[in-house]
Amino acid sequence: MAFARIQELGAHIGSSVTLRGWVYAKRSSGKIKFLMLRDGSGIVQIVFVKTQVSEKTWDDFEKLTQETSVHVTGKVKPDTRSKLGVELEGESIEILQIAQDYPIGPKEHGPDFLLSNRHLWLRSQRPHAVLRIRDRFVKAVRDFFDKDGFVLVDTPIFTPAACEGTTTLFETEYFGDKAYLSQSGQLYGEAAAMAFGKVYCFGPTFRAEKSKTRRHLTEFWMIEPEVAFNDLEDNMRLAERFLEYTVGFVLEHCKTEFATLERDTSALERVKAPFPRISYTEAVEILKKKGIPFEWGGDFGAPEETAISQEFDRPVFIHRFPTAIKAFYMKPDPTNPKVALGVDCIAPEGYGEIIGGGQREENLEALRQRIHEHGLQEENFNWFLDLRKYGSVPHAGFGLGLERTISWLCGLEHLREAAAFPRMMYRIYP
Ligand code: 4AD
Ligand code: MG
Repeated sequence: MAFARIQELGAHIGSSVTLRGWVYAKRSSGKIKFLMLRDGSGIVQIVFVKTQVSEKTWDDFEKLTQETSVHVTGKVKPDTRSKLGVELEGESIEILQIAQDYPIGPKEHGPDFLLSNRHLWLRSQRPHAVLRIRDRFVKAVRDFFDKDGFVLVDTPIFTPAACEGTTTLFETEYFGDKAYLSQSGQLYGEAAAMAFGKVYCFGPTFRAEKSKTRRHLTEFWMIEPEVAFNDLEDNMRLAERFLEYTVGFVLEHCKTEFATLERDTSALERVKAPFPRISYTEAVEILKKKGIPFEWGGDFGAPEETAISQEFDRPVFIHRFPTAIKAFYMKPDPTNPKVALGVDCIAPEGYGEIIGGGQREENLEALRQRIHEHGLQEENFNWFLDLRKYGSVPHAGFGLGLERTISWLCGLEHLREAAAFPRMMYRIYP
């Protein structure tokens, strides 16, 4: 028997097909019964008319509970009222397994309950829309780099040393030694950039964040391009082209999903290069003008980022942060070493930093000194220092947090909804 998927039903108008899926909802009105069936690709209405089906089918309909798995055969008919443009004239039902007391119903559920049932909640329309947008965004990311001549180089998850400071490391036992879960693939990305010129890595990264904010996960995915011979300016140009392409792609291909989420996408339509560029020092001036107390030298938190982003109609780059608050690998600005050639990209609408990156220190002695200043063990970085001994060149890159970005694109309250199975300080279940 030929099975069809709901998203392809338009091609089967006039014929009988069998769908395989799960009961989403049902209702009866006398001699007509309506079944909403979902199969992962969509939801379709199937209409059963008492006079046209067997008694067994009519009785089996009564047994259907939410999420019961079924095969349903019916004839595809055009239907202008449905989003799909079709409905089915039901012919028969084959029950695979009757679901008992499915815990998620049409009533409102609290976020804790839904997160504890995330393995089931994934079947609902809202998570479905978010995860499809994530899927299309990742496709756009890979297409962008592919068309631009980048090579994907996967970086390790077990690492011998810190990349982004020692306070958020997850430590694990490694055959009698210590290893850490990767906070960022960057250092390996730098080695790969010296081998291939233009590379990116895309994988899970880990931070033992003790913060319970709506912007922090302990496990998140990061997209990290690294390019030999790029400087800070090139890096910003790459980042804005990258965002313009990837955001444009999901806007074009995920209209239904954005509608499901009731997301007003007008602000996303403005994600077009060039993005405004301001220095950290200028950002501090903006905060002062807005009456927000802030001392030059500190790091921006969520309130500061939101206040700054409100001044612009699209993502904004903030560059040249104080060297003292930035990672060891950042190159200080030769014209003012108090600031480093790093850049963050802040999303609009209060979603905060989605990109962090910058130009790397390419000088051997300067880098060695920074490693010491940060209290890191030089012997862990011997291989990294080699990159500065054998044909060192200026280079730059950045990391885009996937869940932060999806959270912004989807207009989510909390970035945990941007991951299928979010990991947070207080949640490692399911
Ligand atoms: O700014 P970060 O720490 O930069 C780096 O890791 C660099 N090594 C990247 C590079 O240059 N190759 O992190 C980059 C991005 C942030 O802008 C944010 O979007 C995301 O990663 N991020 C988090 N997302 C979710 N939960 C967390 N705990 C995150 N920490 C960072
Ligand atoms: Mg950062």
